[in-house]
Amino acid sequence: MSELSVKHLLGIKYITKEDIELIFQTADNFKEVINRPIKKVPSLRDITIANLFFENSTRTKLSFELAEKRLSADVINFSAAASSVKKGETLIDTVNNILSMKVDMVVMRHPNPGAGVFLSKHIDASIVNAGDGAHEHPTQALLDSYSIRERLGDVGGKNVVIVGDILHSRVALSNIYALKLQGANVKVCGPKTLMPKYIESLGVEVELDLRKALEWCDVANMLRVQNERMDISYFPSTREYTQQYGVDKALLNSLDKEIVIMHPGPINRGVEITSDVADSDQAIILNQVENGVAVRMAVLYLLASKIKQ
Ligand code: CP
Repeated sequence: MSELSVKHLLGIKYITKEDIELIFQTADNFKEVINRPIKKVPSLRDITIANLFFENSTRTKLSFELAEKRLSADVINFSAAASSVKKGETLIDTVNNILSMKVDMVVMRHPNPGAGVFLSKHIDASIVNAGDGAHEHPTQALLDSYSIRERLGDVGGKNVVIVGDILHSRVALSNIYALKLQGANVKVCGPKTLMPKYIESLGVEVELDLRKALEWCDVANMLRVQNERMDISYFPSTREYTQQYGVDKALLNSLDKEIVIMHPGPINRGVEITSDVADSDQAIILNQVENGVAVRMAVLYLLASKIKQ
């Protein structure tokens, strides 16, 4: 297969196992490029990309911008906090105004689930979802799987547990779709109050006991508690959360094998993982960030080749 089955990357739910394989093969080539002394290629020289961030971001925004520049695209950046959205402009008006400046692709982060899908019905440009509320964060899941493949050789057949605030996590949902497509075994672990009611219908098992989950897995993807998406208390206190669902080095050392630790960031050190775990060789957190650039270059390159047809 040499092209993606989709025009937009709105979520892992909408793509195939073959799409993921093509993205990873393409990312392998770009990873080699970004480790050369000259890290830039002319692939997207005639493409203009708008990065529209209606919600805060550090890693995703910088990673997309770097990926676009490494591909020689023209890039414009929009941040809702400094825009006319504050004056009451709608999403479609904002985007149509930006697109009238001859933009080919839109990378969008938005607090509302489904914002990318909604936009794709109203505009011609190719859209990449950079996180839509608690729904999906497809490029995060792709770079997570790519990093597992890099560390363990394959994703298929591996036991992966996602730990923490599953209810509010777009990273969890996109990872579940991506891991299941590639044949991984997936469990979720965290307080019962932070488990969506539908979760088992996605083909994952719920394990409320962290030690049992860690004993079972090859990889633990540790998630942050998303306090900004909570309007009520889901557990008694942060201290109790950490006692039950936090991972420290003593806990990892007490297991009879060495597991891989992942985290999408931002980390709340001392809450879901301690610094001695985050900064250890068992953690591939910075590899995930590095791989994010190559994976996003691959996604943008493959979507742009569909525009050029
Ligand atoms: N992982 C991730 O999405 O981080 P940011 O919110 O900093 O982009």
